[in-house]
Amino acid sequence: MENYRLNEKDTAKLLKNCRLGSPLYIFDTVTSTFDKIKEYPRLEGLTVAAKIQTAGRGRLGRSWSSEEGGVYFSFNLTPDVSPEEAAFATITCALGTVKALREYGSCSIKWPNDIVMNGKKICGILTTMTTNGSKLDYICVGTGINVNKDSFDESLPHASSIKLETGREQNENKVLASVLKSIEKVYTSYTKERILEEYSENCITIGSDVTVHYTDGRGDFTGKSLGITESGALVVQNGNNTVTVGSGEVSVRGLYGYV
Ligand code: BTN
Repeated sequence: MENYRLNEKDTAKLLKNCRLGSPLYIFDTVTSTFDKIKEYPRLEGLTVAAKIQTAGRGRLGRSWSSEEGGVYFSFNLTPDVSPEEAAFATITCALGTVKALREYGSCSIKWPNDIVMNGKKICGILTTMTTNGSKLDYICVGTGINVNKDSFDESLPHASSIKLETGREQNENKVLASVLKSIEKVYTSYTKERILEEYSENCITIGSDVTVHYTDGRGDFTGKSLGITESGALVVQNGNNTVTVGSGEVSVRGLYGYV
């Protein structure tokens, strides 16, 4: 019988000839795959995955709910780019991920890197960067995919899982392998122009009315999102005012109950 639970043997078999996921280490429980991966060399492609995280981290200092049924993983990238250009890795990984998860149902990206299926968040990506002086040392990409979770805490009303949205249990090894393969394809073979173009086509935020929530006391800025810059920042316009948001919280009208 097919084993749907995350395990090294099945995922590694599916990842033959893939640089991401090579090597691959899968654990039952870790604090965070970001912590665990630090115990290994900073090799490009090295991936650490877990079935449970006891201290999963999300964007903007939030925690990431990481019970059984999700697939949680971090992998290293060592592109030959400046720290400024490294922000683009987030865009690259979000595009690779949405292309893979589309196999399971129609989904899109909420800027910068939530993956949304039927208006619910099924996946989040957090990228960290380590520099050495003015040079980029490496990027660590952490992804949490709600694959087979049956329920979510009531504090997460906009979260869902692929299982809940498709009505079917999914093979966690196949999900992990297809996401890694897809990111690798985008990362190694797409031009920057193609990434920007396809990201924009797949991003629900772009073209929508949005509100930027500043956390530094500037309040909110509401406008229409026009697109992303070369470095992946979101451009929002309201009349003669245009702002560029590098990171932060942006609500999209019509999504997650935002009106
Ligand atoms: C977000 O807030 O949307 C990003 C969530 C990223 C969660 C993943 S799970 C694997 C990796 N380890 C962590 O502690 N966080 C990331």
